[in-house]
Amino acid sequence: MPGVDLQHLVPEHIRRFEAYVPSKPDPELMKLFGCARLLRLNNNENPLGPAPAAQAVIRGFRPPRAALYPSGDCFYLCSALAERLGVEPRQVLVGNGANEVIAFVIKAFCQEGDNIITADKTFAVYEWVAEFSGLAARLVPLKDLTFDDQGMLAAIDARTKILFVCNPNNPTGTYWSEARLRRFLDAVGGRQIVVVDEAYCEFVEAPDFPDAVRLCREYPNLVSFRTFSKMHALAGLRIGYLVGAPEVVDVVRRTCVVYSVNTVAQEAALAALEDPTHAQRTRELMRAERAYLGDALEGLGLPVVRGTANYMMVKLPLSDTLAYRKLMAQGVMVRAMTGFRFPNWIRISLAAHEAMTTCVTALEQLLDNHRSPRGT
Ligand SMILES: Cc1ncc(COP(=O)(O)O)c(C=O)c1O
Repeated sequence: MPGVDLQHLVPEHIRRFEAYVPSKPDPELMKLFGCARLLRLNNNENPLGPAPAAQAVIRGFRPPRAALYPSGDCFYLCSALAERLGVEPRQVLVGNGANEVIAFVIKAFCQEGDNIITADKTFAVYEWVAEFSGLAARLVPLKDLTFDDQGMLAAIDARTKILFVCNPNNPTGTYWSEARLRRFLDAVGGRQIVVVDEAYCEFVEAPDFPDAVRLCREYPNLVSFRTFSKMHALAGLRIGYLVGAPEVVDVVRRTCVVYSVNTVAQEAALAALEDPTHAQRTRELMRAERAYLGDALEGLGLPVVRGTANYMMVKLPLSDTLAYRKLMAQGVMVRAMTGFRFPNWIRISLAAHEAMTTCVTALEQLLDNHRSPRGT
């Protein structure tokens, strides 16, 4: 049987690209690390779960409906989002998670030789999609742990198509104020698309935090990304969306494959929108646990970046990948941050109080063992 001529078939930029390796399912990890239970503090998931109305939709889904295709354009969800956000339904485009809409936008605006600009220490999917699409990703170092507006403006050239700003930033939780975002948009002046990824915007309580959806009216080159994965706790159903000026979204829509958003996700998202109390309860929990965890970690003598969202960064006096393994053995799963270009740092998702105290105890033990290893 002849082999496959991969040398000829695979483009150079795909050959160079290393596939992301997702973590194994929890039962496999528990076997691997020998722990009887696993606290997931690695993916910034909402510990309260979906709003009760969304849970009712999921429970009430009638199996025969699985045989039918979903609404191809998320008709009712787009209308509901548009009404809440004060835009027209055609300004909203829903995808299989915000991850999918990242790919839509890059496909819509970039061709060979183009580049995108983002930060070096941020959500990596903008960089990855650009690179496996054969495009250059220009990574501007964070300044004071925040996106560097001047550095990003200086990196623009004639082939720059999109600037990605993660606000608040994952993983630092730092953000640009409305005034800073406006200055940046004024400087860009419509020559590039500016994406503001607002995956965590619902967690931020600072009064000067901008609403990029509202700003789209004034800046037609601005696109906001949002997701139901974080605050709305529907990560497992994969649903996110973008909002932008009608003429921009009309272009992006050409690159999207219909039916990528399933029926349960659309209906659960619709129900989640109708329950503002769930977000309030989540914010209260996050406020309390951010204070608790931040104080506890500083009490252990660790440098902490508290951020504004549902996660916190902590610097350890040992390798983050080693710390990850040791914490896993205690059933605590955090995010090792070497992959985010923050070696020796870990990111911890804020969760219910019991999970936070368990995490602190595990870290205490880790630090004790590190400072005075047994047998020495
Ligand atoms: C900043 C940021 N944007 C987008 C996403 C992707 O979200 P989704 O689950 O909707 O694909 C994430 C997920 O962690 C994120 O942290």
